Amino acid sequence: SRVGAVVPAAGRGERLGGGTPKALRPLAGRPMLLRAVETLLSSTLVSQVVVAAPPTLVDVVGQLLGSGVRVVPGGAERVDSVRVALDALDDDIGVVLVHDAARPLTPAKLVDAVATTVLDGHPAVIPVLPVADTIKEIDADGRVVRTPRRDGLRAVQTPQGFRRDILRAAYANRDLPVTDDAGLVEALGVPVTTIPGAEEAFKVTRPADLVLAEALLAHSLP
Ligand code: CTP
Ligand code: MG
Repeated sequence: SRVGAVVPAAGRGERLGGGTPKALRPLAGRPMLLRAVETLLSSTLVSQVVVAAPPTLVDVVGQLLGSGVRVVPGGAERVDSVRVALDALDDDIGVVLVHDAARPLTPAKLVDAVATTVLDGHPAVIPVLPVADTIKEIDADGRVVRTPRRDGLRAVQTPQGFRRDILRAAYANRDLPVTDDAGLVEALGVPVTTIPGAEEAFKVTRPADLVLAEALLAHSLP
């Protein structure tokens, strides 16, 4: 089955700040979105990429990425952006990767690992890492309700990979308060498989993340 990738890139980047929409912020001179898309295209398994861009920047992003990438206007929330991009995939795409533009240093081998695991028959696949901090569940007043055992917790990255029919069904429930695509799939009762994530696949969210990404590019990555 053909593998397609959708890239939500329509966020404003409020936590990062700095004016320019986050996906277009340069990292060592090249926009984060361009880096993320090039990594997806570098996978021999990925045959189509659709990007959800900030609605006023669809043409700018189209110029940046070139004619091989379809660009659609994103929506108000990430789920809205993903839904619009999913609808723009070719009909014969049977496996979908959803990958944040804000994870510009994600290794190509992680893209391949997620896609391969779905193609091997797992309907939903997510890359995860152990969490470094202890996580507390709190109530509305900020009081601690409980402390889940840290060794049973994982931080979740992208790309997340899915059988397309399952992701489409999951997105019929997109009003659920979940913060990743797999959360919608879990709500269907479909098993979600975890594979090891990659430290470099971290999300650029706050200013210090941009500093870290620049430093990694300068010192350790090719
Ligand atoms: N995203 C999107 N459409 C939205 C909101 C987010 O396509 N309406 C995308 C972002 O562009 C990003 C990914 O979803 O690639 C992950 O979201 P996040 O890191 O939260 O980015 P922003 O929403 O841009 O940042 P912030 O929440 O700080 O404003
Ligand atoms: Mg956001």
